[in-house]
Amino acid sequence: MTQDEMKQEVAQEAIKYIVKDTIIGVGTGSTANFFIDALAPIKNQIKGAVASSVATADRLTSHGIKVYDLNEVDSISVYIDGADESDNDFNLIKGGGGALTREKIVAAVAQKFVCIADESKLVETLGNFDLPVEVIPMAANYVKNEIISRIGGSPKIRENFVTDNGNYILDVHGLQILKPKETERAIDAIVGTVTNGLFANRGADILLLGTNDGVKTLSLKRS
Ligand code: 5RP
Repeated sequence: MTQDEMKQEVAQEAIKYIVKDTIIGVGTGSTANFFIDALAPIKNQIKGAVASSVATADRLTSHGIKVYDLNEVDSISVYIDGADESDNDFNLIKGGGGALTREKIVAAVAQKFVCIADESKLVETLGNFDLPVEVIPMAANYVKNEIISRIGGSPKIRENFVTDNGNYILDVHGLQILKPKETERAIDAIVGTVTNGLFANRGADILLLGTNDGVKTLSLKRS
């Protein structure tokens, strides 16, 4: 099975987690796009969606799915999104597509976070994938130098890329993230950082993994 076929299968499986007549949150990326396409035929079962990026809002709208501004919404029943890496405790690295800040906001509001990914994304230790950090443009050099001295790794500005929020992304190479919650907080504490791609303090609740033998459902009880 190709990676895209696995992504398509988990996207289809995620439809089972839709809560009828509610507003759901929708992530960004190729796996989330497969989910949006799977959602289209059953769109009348939900009130609509909050999108984690302009690209996702456009795709939802093109399928006739109503997109809500987060400020108009009281609650989000479930958030469905992909990831760049997950460890066995469902701490994630996200932001390969640069949508990490809005993704983190929607995930924070959602009652449940269902992460959909192909099996290549499950790792023992996070950090093989470069960790994205969204920064205010004028602070890019400062945050880069502070990451090197406080966290380690080699941050590099993502070239020719501006986020939906008008900011830059630093991709931090060479990290081995043994304490994801602490590292997430430590990066957020650097002035000029908007957010970072570690989703550990609010990780996924359920991980749907596409494998050659079908979709594996892994779930975690968070305290
Ligand atoms: C975008 C993300 C995506 O969820 C992540 O990059 C995974 O993408 P894909 O589903 O294309 O593999 O965090 O900011």
